[in-house]
Order: sequence, then structure tokens, then C-alpha cells
Amino acid sequence: MSAAADTVKLMKQQVGKAAADRVQSGTIVGLGTGSTTAYAIQFIGERLQSGEIKDIKGIPTSFQAEVLAKQYGIPLITLDEADRIDVAIDGADEVDPNKNLIKGGGAAHTREKVVDSLAAEFIVVVDSSKIVDRLNSTFLLPVEVLPMAMTPVMRAIENLGGKPELRMGVRKAGPVITDEGNFVIDVKFDEIANPAELEKTLNNIPGVLENGLFVGVANVVLIGEIKDGQPVVREM
Ligand code: 5RP
Repeated sequence: MSAAADTVKLMKQQVGKAAADRVQSGTIVGLGTGSTTAYAIQFIGERLQSGEIKDIKGIPTSFQAEVLAKQYGIPLITLDEADRIDVAIDGADEVDPNKNLIKGGGAAHTREKVVDSLAAEFIVVVDSSKIVDRLNSTFLLPVEVLPMAMTPVMRAIENLGGKPELRMGVRKAGPVITDEGNFVIDVKFDEIANPAELEKTLNNIPGVLENGLFVGVANVVLIGEIKDGQPVVREM
């Protein structure tokens, strides 16, 4: 692993641990998706196994989160069995100064938005590279679509001024298929002047399930960064 990759890993580990440390006994926890949240899931599992916390129930946002939770011994429940979600911990691809997010780098944003927005407290865990002045400046905006609606949705997005591209698989021929069996269209806009409005406009296109704009959902943003050569965590 290169030195830069090592540094990013350290930041992700630290911030994942900081979020896991905030989980209290007896709570229902939304378990996010991605490499940063994976550390949070690991540390929650370790705290549970050591007896430091008890009686935790997790609600996974993806197949990945479900597998990791089982691996680290976190009991899982579904939304049908939960009367509340106390806290959700999830990563992000971009965070703006208003704590608005772009998510969906792992194509899990539809389930993530359901779980994260239901949580009494949604804690975002990111390394410092995810902090931006304006959303969509470093990361394309993911939009989950029904496969049969791909072409009309792409046209509708072009009419809104976006440049859409179908997300293709890696080490798999053809498009990425989400946990719900759909496609993801990644979009570049020249500018997202009003994220709240665009979030609604995109979701109003027939065939769109959900887009990766999370506006007004995050309560706490924890940022892992390197200071004086050491990984530290600060709250935005
Ligand atoms: C998955 C997501 C992830 O939370 C986001 O892509 C960040 O992932 P990572 O922590 O691996 O950088 O939204 O759909």
C-alpha cells in the first residue's frame, strides 16, 4: 500500500472509531455502507463483544453492511421490527459547509437515505478529502433508476442541464446492479445552485428511485484528518 493510501486508511479508521465510541447501550443503530463505515461497524462489534456496551441492534443499509455486522457479531433487525432508530452512522462522498451531502459511491444511497433520515441522530464519518465548498465539484451525483427507464431518465437529466453516464461494473461486464436490482446513473451538473430543489426535481422523474443528494439529513459530521503527522478527528 502507498503512503497516501495508508494515510487515508488511518483517517478512516480513526473517524470510524470516534463514531463507534458514541454508540450507547440499548440503542438501535443504522449501519451505513462504505469503507469508512466498515471501521465503525467493526469497532461497534468489538465494543459489544468486550461487554463495554450491550443490547445493540443494527439496521443495515446494504448487503455489505449486513455481512460486516454479522461478521462482527452485531444483532440485526429490520425496519418492520424497529419503533425508532437512535443513531445512524454512514459515510459520504462529499460534504458541503451546510452539512449537505452527496452519497452513493457504493450505489447504496436509496436504502441509506431511508435509514439515515429516520435516525434521531445521523453521524457522518468522512476523511478530510470529502469536504468541499460546493456539491458535485469532485464527485458525480448518483441517481438510482429502474433499468427499463434508463434512457428516458437520462434524457430528462440532460434537459435539466446534467451530463449523465451509466455506472459500469468493475471486474463485471455491463452496468453496476444495486442491491435492489436497479442501475445507477452518475451525473455532472455545471453547478448545483439549490441542492434541496434538485433533490426533489430528480426524484420527480418517473423511473428514478432516489438520488444521492442528502439535504438537511446530517446532524453531526466527524472528519478524520492528519495533524502534525498524527490522525485526529474533529467535528464540523
Ligand atoms: C455508499 C456511500 C458511502 O458512504 C460513500 O461512498 C463513502 O464511502 P467510503 O467511506 O468508502 O469513502 O454513500 O453508497
